[in-house]
Amino acid sequence: MYTYADYQQAVAVIQSKITIQPTVGLVLGSGLGALADTITERVVIPYETLPGWPQSTVPGHSGQLVIGRLEGVPVLAQQGRAHFYEGYTMQQVTFPIRVMYLLGVNTLILTNAAGGLNRSYRVGDLMLLNDHINLIGMAGMNPLVGLNDERFGPRFVGMGHTYDAGLREMARHVAAEHKLPLHEGVYLCLSGPNFETPAEVRMLRAWGADAVGMSTVHEVLVARHAGMRVMAFSGITNEAIDVVDAPVETNHEEVLDAGKVLVPRLTAVLRGVLKALA
Ligand code: HPA
Repeated sequence: MYTYADYQQAVAVIQSKITIQPTVGLVLGSGLGALADTITERVVIPYETLPGWPQSTVPGHSGQLVIGRLEGVPVLAQQGRAHFYEGYTMQQVTFPIRVMYLLGVNTLILTNAAGGLNRSYRVGDLMLLNDHINLIGMAGMNPLVGLNDERFGPRFVGMGHTYDAGLREMARHVAAEHKLPLHEGVYLCLSGPNFETPAEVRMLRAWGADAVGMSTVHEVLVARHAGMRVMAFSGITNEAIDVVDAPVETNHEEVLDAGKVLVPRLTAVLRGVLKALA
């Protein structure tokens, strides 16, 4: 378990290197890190120089913070994240979110690579999260379990307004302006690292999930606990396979390949939203 001082220590190291105070946090998922390449007035901080910060061990996650401006907005972008399946605790995986909060970030935008469960979703599509199913949280893996530190938020957190309605409206507006199709749906979080079996895919779809992945939800919980405004996008990198003995198998390479199509689309939407926020 971290103490408050552990978070403050990482904050102090970051503060010693930056002059721009970020108000918007960006978490860039598998294959989506290139989004941060256009941040201007940038300061880059490798995760390994930050005390307490979990390292990302997965290809497609470069493992650094980029702090600067995007569309004039002071942002802090996480190029790559750590996952529960890498062996980290839920507290470790969400450590960066509390550091962002203490730095003054009040709006958090998360992205992830996800499998499409909804039959109308295709590879390369974007889904704006309007809700989630925290399946690993229901099984006990929840970052808010343990003694509650009131400095970060209250013991019990309501989840009826998790994905900010105003930010979602902005995203819809920007996507329409760019003639980019944007689904809106429910993201379901599993621990991974294996992809789902066909039987699991059919079950998750029947439960009302539109996309499935291995991240985001625990970060969202910690951000909402702290009262941050949250928006999140899934990039659909593969269609989840729902029959046994299919001629194809889901793999990480296709996830990263789809990222190349998704980055320009996500960049357009995020830039538009930031412009509206500026
Ligand atoms: N399942 C879980 N996580 C994922 C997938 C998937 O199909 N694609 C990308 N991340």
